[in-house]
Amino acid sequence: MDLFEHQARDIFEKHGVPVLRGIVATTPAQARAAALELLPADGGVVVVKAQVKTGGRGKAGGVKLARSADEAESVAAQILGMDIKGHTVHRVMVAEGARIEEEYYFSLLLDRAERRYLAMASVEGGVEIEQLAVERPEALARVAVDPRVGIDAAKAAEIVAAAGFADDVAPAVADIAQRLWDVYRSEDATLVEVNPLVRTADGAVIALDGKVTLDENAGFRHPDHEGLVDAEAADPLEAKAKAAGLNYVKLDGEVGIIGNGAGLVMSTLDVVAYAGEAHGGVRPANFLDIGGGASAEVMAAGLDVILNDPQVLSVFVNVFGGITACDAVANGIVKALEILGEAETKPLVVRLDGNNVAEGRRILREAAHPLVVLADTMDGGADRAAEIAYAATQA
Ligand SMILES: Nc1ncnc2c1ncn2[C@@H]1O[C@H](COP(=O)(O)OP(=O)(O)O)[C@@H](O)[C@H]1O
Ligand SMILES: [Mg+2]
Repeated sequence: MDLFEHQARDIFEKHGVPVLRGIVATTPAQARAAALELLPADGGVVVVKAQVKTGGRGKAGGVKLARSADEAESVAAQILGMDIKGHTVHRVMVAEGARIEEEYYFSLLLDRAERRYLAMASVEGGVEIEQLAVERPEALARVAVDPRVGIDAAKAAEIVAAAGFADDVAPAVADIAQRLWDVYRSEDATLVEVNPLVRTADGAVIALDGKVTLDENAGFRHPDHEGLVDAEAADPLEAKAKAAGLNYVKLDGEVGIIGNGAGLVMSTLDVVAYAGEAHGGVRPANFLDIGGGASAEVMAAGLDVILNDPQVLSVFVNVFGGITACDAVANGIVKALEILGEAETKPLVVRLDGNNVAEGRRILREAAHPLVVLADTMDGGADRAAEIAYAATQA
């Protein structure tokens, strides 16, 4: 899960990483109030920053200075509602303005290939770090971090030396590196990036921008991370599926897909997309893997999610009976249709194969549900489901 900058800022603060004060605002009036609170009495500036989960906000015009509360309000009015790389700005952070002397870069990430962590640092931070990495890779120090040791004082000194930080800031940067390691390890992050880390006119070193990705697999260790989820951004169907414990991803097409096993579901998406080419270009509407069990409850929960997708015009259920044999799956489908009752309104093409397939098909034939269409093969089922969906678009 990627965090907003203001969330990263709060986590940094919790771990003793130096940050500036910041207040989130969702309206220009709130931004004004925040600026009044943050603007020093003797002048100075605040910065109004778009809170979207993408980089390059500065270049896109989503980070602006304001010298007064009035200016903060008008700048916030410009930034709120702005589109930055496909992300609409719903909130801004009004932050204290730093008097920047130098901009540095620091990040910690997972190096999967080497099975360890990687610290990267540069005294040439700021907005163009990707460009720097390509054009002058020697200016970006890369230091391996042993997960069993982390960034201790010795490792921090190694990183600071490799990046060539000047003596006057080296101790502060080394201290921050260790604190960012603490963020990385104790919050179960897979990425912690600070760009820029700055030296200000009064010699302080401060994290001005933060990007943090948390490992959702470790969520059970962090009940407090629940509160960081951006509920507005979540697709409502995906949220519903998640609540039901289903492995579901919403796609853009018209043919709902249910299968068991990620590999089978992936290939089902392929054959449906292929079949759709002959039927008006209909496409898969989702990925849904109901796993090995395929019980009536799981089948019903899965169908419930898919049928609630207004784009769905037909559903292709493609199940390979293994440990859970086809007769159990067929009973699951029949019961699921009972559970759904009136809600089941779209044709269901069912292809069963594998363990005890003859009995499974018999059960479905006998149930003779008016909306269930039996298919013998995966290609045949995909074709039928695509055909039905296309016909519905023409109706
Ligand atoms: N609080 C701040 N005070 C002064 N300048 C800032 C502040 N926050 C950001 N900036 C300036 O704006 C630039 C871009 O902001 P940043 O937060 O890094 O957004 P992004 O990386 O998305 O462009 C920074 O490199 C810095 O020069
Ligand atoms: Mg930045």
